[in-house]
Amino acid sequence: MTTTSSSSATTLGSGVHDRALRARAHRVIPGGMYGHLAVEKTQLPTNFPQFYETAVGAHVRDVDGNEYIDLMCSWGPVLLGYAHPAVEEAVRRQMSLGDINNGPSARLVELAELLVDTVAHADWAIFGKNGTDATTACCTIARAATGRTKILKATTAYHGSNPTFTPIPAGVTDADRVNIVEFAFNDLASLEAAAAENDGDVAAVIVTPFFHDGFGDLASVDPAFAAGVRALCDRIGAVLILDEVRAGFRLDVRGSWERIGVRPDLSAFSKALGNGYPISAITGTDQLRDAADSVYLTGSFWLQSVPMAAAIATVHELVNTGGVEHMNSLGQRLVTGLRAVAEDHEVPLIVSGEVTMPKIRFVDDPDLRLANVFCSTALDFGVFLHPWHNWFVSAAHTEGTIDAALTAAAAGASAVRQSL
Ligand SMILES: Cc1ncc(COP(=O)(O)O)c(C=O)c1O
Repeated sequence: MTTTSSSSATTLGSGVHDRALRARAHRVIPGGMYGHLAVEKTQLPTNFPQFYETAVGAHVRDVDGNEYIDLMCSWGPVLLGYAHPAVEEAVRRQMSLGDINNGPSARLVELAELLVDTVAHADWAIFGKNGTDATTACCTIARAATGRTKILKATTAYHGSNPTFTPIPAGVTDADRVNIVEFAFNDLASLEAAAAENDGDVAAVIVTPFFHDGFGDLASVDPAFAAGVRALCDRIGAVLILDEVRAGFRLDVRGSWERIGVRPDLSAFSKALGNGYPISAITGTDQLRDAADSVYLTGSFWLQSVPMAAAIATVHELVNTGGVEHMNSLGQRLVTGLRAVAEDHEVPLIVSGEVTMPKIRFVDDPDLRLANVFCSTALDFGVFLHPWHNWFVSAAHTEGTIDAALTAAAAGASAVRQSL
């Protein structure tokens, strides 16, 4: 892929093809675009493209032919890099056999076996399409297992787009939320209080491996908190659900809390599992096997073999190439470099979160003006950084692409300095 991006500050996004597609979209799609990828509705800089043409490795190209080093990985699904050869080969092979052939293929069993061998707590696996499928199914299985109703979740934690979990209230009724009780992440006392208030009726605690709120700083989990969640669930007979949809396979292939010695009862995976192909997984322990079997879990496309073949290739490739270690070392380089850029340019840039999924924020920047100046300038230098969501490092990034991102970040910090 050739680079057409300029090293000078010219506007790249919103080119003629992007603008034409936006105008057509506004006629046939409510609001012109929906959800978290709607650039006009989510406070993104005006030069950000809405539409993309292609992507390879760590690079994406928009419909106007501008190429960017990408640090969003399609908001998480791309783990090994776009169009990874081993994954694409597995996909082609499966396509030649068929994707939907009246029932599951052997890939279903092979992928379940692979996850049972790879994910430490897993004795079984079931597959869906999206993260929301998996988190929803985990809650249903927990309720089936316990006969209880309440689900405890961290305040502002995102677990999916269904009416129970969506952060946007439009179209949601009180009844959709009545069985959700909130606690503060990393605050065991608040979790204990939420459990005590619902004594005898807590089906599950659902928690993400680290705290990734939309607009605030991210926080690693306190190991004592994770151990406390485990102990509380064991004490009151509730199910511990680890929502791995965002973090899964990026921190530890065995499960994100394996490093701190805490095992969930159920995990929800999606995003990175198929390196961009649509698949999610619920993994669970033997104690929940019968409950999982009792719940009606299905979807018209849940048994597609191509995403399963992609997932098998993705997990093998990640494990065989030490992908997590590679991403970690590049993430460290990125985060250290960003902090140095902030210091050099004397800008109040905060970098938080896991190094493979860092997030930036400027102090006293409630309307994201400074973050947008930073990211808009980086985009002009051919690097796609996001102003309010965490970024994602992939195994296709190299020291070279990270250093190029840091050069663009330095230009962004310089622009911020001038606009202070
Ligand atoms: C932690 C977490 N859970 C659940 C979801 C929902 O996944 P999906 O959008 O695939 O339904 C997301 C999506 O970003 C997520 O980050």
